[in-house]
Parts: sequence; C-alpha cells; structure tokens
Amino acid sequence: MEEVRLQKYMAECGVASRRKCEEMITSGLVKVNGKKVTELGTKVLPGKDVVEVQGKKIGEEKKVYILLNKPVGYVTTVSDESDRPTVMDLLKDVKEKVVPVGRLDMYTSGLLLFSNDGDFIYKVTHPKHETTKTYIVKTRGVPKESDLEKLRNGVKIDGYITSPAKVELLLKDNVNGIARIWIQIHEGRNRQVRKMCEAIGLSVIALKREGVGNLTCEGVEKGKYRYLTEEEVREIM
Ligand code: URA
Repeated sequence: MEEVRLQKYMAECGVASRRKCEEMITSGLVKVNGKKVTELGTKVLPGKDVVEVQGKKIGEEKKVYILLNKPVGYVTTVSDESDRPTVMDLLKDVKEKVVPVGRLDMYTSGLLLFSNDGDFIYKVTHPKHETTKTYIVKTRGVPKESDLEKLRNGVKIDGYITSPAKVELLLKDNVNGIARIWIQIHEGRNRQVRKMCEAIGLSVIALKREGVGNLTCEGVEKGKYRYLTEEEVREIM
C-alpha cells in the first residue's frame, strides 16, 4: 500500500470533502498516531497509521480477502493512465478499498488476490515468508532435463540468481516444438517466470498462475471472484 496525503485519505474515508478536510487539519482537529498534525503535506499509510478526527478513529474498514480468476488482457493496477482494462474493473461491486496482492502481467491469467489488510499483503508478497506461487507455462521450445535443472537451482535474471524452484515438465511436443511446464516459486519478482524461461532459451506462449499457497481458482470462473474463508486466511497468515 502507498502513502497518501492526509486530506485525501480523510476524504476517501468519507470524513468530508478534501477542501474541508484541509481546514480540519490546519485547525488542529486531526491526530496521526496520537500526535496532532497541522501540516497539509503530511502523508499516511492507510491501514497502518491511525488517524483520528476530533477524537474519533477513521478508516477502520472490515478486512476482506478476495481471490480473482484473472483473464488475460487486464492490467494489475488500481488505475491505468492509458485507460486499459484493469483488474479493478472486475471487482466493481466490492465496497471495501482493496488493492491487488502482488501483480500478474497483462497477458498472464489465473489466481490474483486482493485485500485491504496490510499484514496479509506483506505475508503473501514478501519472499522471506515463502508463500508458494505455482504457475503453468506453455513455451515455444522444448527444454532439456539439464535446462529444467538450471531452473530448479537458480538462473541469473536482472543480475540476481533466482531462489531454488520446483519444476516439472508436464508435456513435450517435439513435433511442434512446444512444451508445458509446472513451476513453483516463492519469490514474485517482476516478470520472473517469463524471465526464467527466457534464461534457458524458451519463449512464453501462455502463462497462468495456478495457485498461491494452498489456494487455487477451482470453482471460480474466469473473470469472477470469491471471498476467502477465515480458515483460508488463517492458513496463509
Ligand atoms: N511471472 C511472470 O513472468 N509474470 C507474471 O505475471 C507472474 C509471474
């Protein structure tokens, strides 16, 4: 989650218009983490910083956790400057202010989580927590066993070596020069799976995220979403 200006955050929480919120700040009615704030440049981290207006806490939304089966063709962002379809278009009837948990490329499909719970987002996205992400990738080019072994042990992309991964060849079609590979990683660097495949000379025809931890898209149609159960959230946390 990104820091936002205090008056913007207050307005988004429904306190008043942004202009009115500015007045409230300068007249000393607002506290952040217990301290009175009168500066208009102040920024807060939604979900983390505690904001009080006239002694009343604001912005305490019910925590929600959503699993979307993302189709290709949607950008993972909360707003796109070029007006392309975004994953938020698929969550139009969700009232809470959720954000995507990590990202999938525009042409990657599959499981994408959303939440308004900063701890959950951190847990899923930070490599040190080792939440697994499982992908099925269709490639142009058929890898040799030694190439798969390289993926398992780590390949160099963007100047770093990827952490050990689980990798299995699901299908090889030598006639058409196509393969399908199952890859499980616990990092989530930018375009990681595509770059890993490129590092062993394969180009990606299609990429789908099959799972995050124990979660899968089973029962969720493409373009649809569902809320996680309490137990599913507990398991991830
Ligand atoms: N790796 C990629 O290359 N792309 C994604 O969207 C997710 C993982």
